[in-house]
Amino acid sequence: MKVLNIGSMNLDHVYQVDHIVQPGETESTGSLALFLGGKGMNQSVALAKAGVEVYQGGMLGPDGQPFLDACREYGVDSRYIRTVSEPTGHTIIQIDRHAQNCILLYGGANQCLTEEYVDEVLSHFAPEDILLLQNEVNLLPYLVDRACEKGMTIALNPSPFDEKLRAVDLSKVSIFLLNEVEGGQITGLTQPEEILAAMVERFPDTQIVLTLGKDGALYAHGAERHFQPIFPVQAVDTTAAGDTFTGYFLAGLTEGLPIPEVLRRSAKASAIAVTRPGAVPSIPQRDEVLRALEQA
Ligand code: RIB
Repeated sequence: MKVLNIGSMNLDHVYQVDHIVQPGETESTGSLALFLGGKGMNQSVALAKAGVEVYQGGMLGPDGQPFLDACREYGVDSRYIRTVSEPTGHTIIQIDRHAQNCILLYGGANQCLTEEYVDEVLSHFAPEDILLLQNEVNLLPYLVDRACEKGMTIALNPSPFDEKLRAVDLSKVSIFLLNEVEGGQITGLTQPEEILAAMVERFPDTQIVLTLGKDGALYAHGAERHFQPIFPVQAVDTTAAGDTFTGYFLAGLTEGLPIPEVLRRSAKASAIAVTRPGAVPSIPQRDEVLRALEQA
């Protein structure tokens, strides 16, 4: 089983700030760091580090070589990445003194997918393969429809949530990985248990992973339920915590592990990721996660 991840690749410009800048305010910072990121890239790297055969798809600009180099370094297959004339996507990320972030996203090349490109890439995958998607590329409805026609398993991280997602036929998704904000936007509810119940009612055959930040994660599939608390750590940067969780969760599923163990590994991997700065470089290797679990 292979995982195809058609997703974003962003150069993250990360600024340490005292507090997230308010409307009309100017705040100075002397701290800028550049990291490779993007939800697509982060999740592919997490899958690869967890030991999965993963193919990253999507678009880079002429300035995108560092992402191809990183794919080689981390064992992500980059043969389906294409280069277009638009610049590579980038973000402006503020991290406050509590390690909370806010992100301004410029899509750039990530928004240049074409139907011809999608058809070509999907033609290399089979019904037993997984298509992983997030909401930082264009053509999500087309991607979901075509992958469903092929019989592929579709895993969707509907992040960041926006109105474009309303055009996606979510009933074709087999695995949702979302946080409570996104769950709230899909269901119109606020309480995690209510969000989960509403998701299960609407998508009875779908696996649902609802991450709740410091309150852990909930899993539901039909009548099956699991809860995974966090592993408490001193966080320095929460960017890519959710992406690490997603990559490790799918990796555990492809390994056929029991769900409680899949959740435990995912929570430990993201706990390690938040203790390090940046997105891609913060994601731990499988061995490190397993060792840390033994010691936990
Ligand atoms: O999920 C974290 C990612 O979101 C960052 O790497 C940033 O690029 C944004 O896409």
